[in-house]
Amino acid sequence: MEENLRIATIVRKTDENHTDRSIIEEAASILRAGGLVAFPTETVYGLGADALHEEASGKIYAAKGRPSDNPLIVHIADETQLAPIVQTVPEKAKALMKAFWPGPLTIIFRKSDVVPRGTTGGLDTVAVRMPEHKIALELIRVSGLPVAAPSANTSGRPSPTNASHVYEDLNGRIDMIIDGGTVGIGIESTIIDVTCEPPMILRPGYITKEKLERVIGPVAVDKAVTEPVSPDVIPRAPGMKYKHYAPKADFTMFSGEADKVAAYINRLAEEKICQGYKVGVIVCDETVDKYQAGDVVSVGTRKNDITISRNLYRVLREFDNKKVDYIFGETFTDDEFGQAIMNRMLKAAGYQVEIVT
Ligand code: TXA
Ligand code: MG
Repeated sequence: MEENLRIATIVRKTDENHTDRSIIEEAASILRAGGLVAFPTETVYGLGADALHEEASGKIYAAKGRPSDNPLIVHIADETQLAPIVQTVPEKAKALMKAFWPGPLTIIFRKSDVVPRGTTGGLDTVAVRMPEHKIALELIRVSGLPVAAPSANTSGRPSPTNASHVYEDLNGRIDMIIDGGTVGIGIESTIIDVTCEPPMILRPGYITKEKLERVIGPVAVDKAVTEPVSPDVIPRAPGMKYKHYAPKADFTMFSGEADKVAAYINRLAEEKICQGYKVGVIVCDETVDKYQAGDVVSVGTRKNDITISRNLYRVLREFDNKKVDYIFGETFTDDEFGQAIMNRMLKAAGYQVEIVT
């Protein structure tokens, strides 16, 4: 962006448990005036704008460098905000809302006429979520608006899990950042489409297939979740077609028995370092002592998936900032919540996985 187009970005810090009302009011008035405010949610930071104001949501695309056919998620603070923006609320959606809202579940509905196509990337459907974060809920409530908010990163970079990530990407392009500390989950919400039968998961997240099926019975999973998307096919969640969550380095994952994977990665890392490259290595608490070569980082413990999801994007960003050339990583289990973590890692790695025998 040219220097003279830059705007002053206000950064305000507040605590989720003792939210400063004056900061929320300042942010809400920016949203009502058609401006952009980044705020924390329980998943990742969002970049908010008035969802019913085409020009305001248009600014989100410009600030992020986001393709205009990639629709935004509309955030609400209570269920009375849902009826005006959708055509109908199917029974299964009602059951999901009761079980998981507020929380990291986004539901796709048929949109009503008040939602501009600029917000939905030209689609007749709208994605809606009620976040489980006091700052997000209070901001939405005080603004009185449904708030369109994609992740608050530059398009193509890992989603932000703290306010400094947002600042790194969007300082000078947005009006305000509310710094509410580090988020709890660290990867984006589960997206489920209830306009089809059976309902279909378009993006896996903390609310797993198993949890959804306990509430509404069988659920399908979009192919784009587990396989690379061919450039000619537009997936049902258009965002899944872009090379998302991508670090700048060449990222490969290695799967196999722990000792063999460690030995293989150590050898490969040493080789690259000898050739003059910088190498980052992503492992877990259980195996970290097996690694000697490169910048070795444990993302968390395999005993608790959320420790891994919470750190993953931060670690990828740190490797970017250190200008790492190669990232070598272990794979993680892909059951339950692990499926969402592996989905993000596979996308970051451009699906490069080697099996070590
Ligand atoms: O956890 C989250 O969902 C975060 C926080 C801020 O709430 N938001 C987020 O937004 O991840 P974003 O824009 O980064 O990802 C939205 C995804 C995209 O893949 C987009 O294509 C899909 O949701 N999406 C939005 N509206 C849709 C619709 N009507 N139909 C299908 N997919 C939709
Ligand atoms: Mg995003």
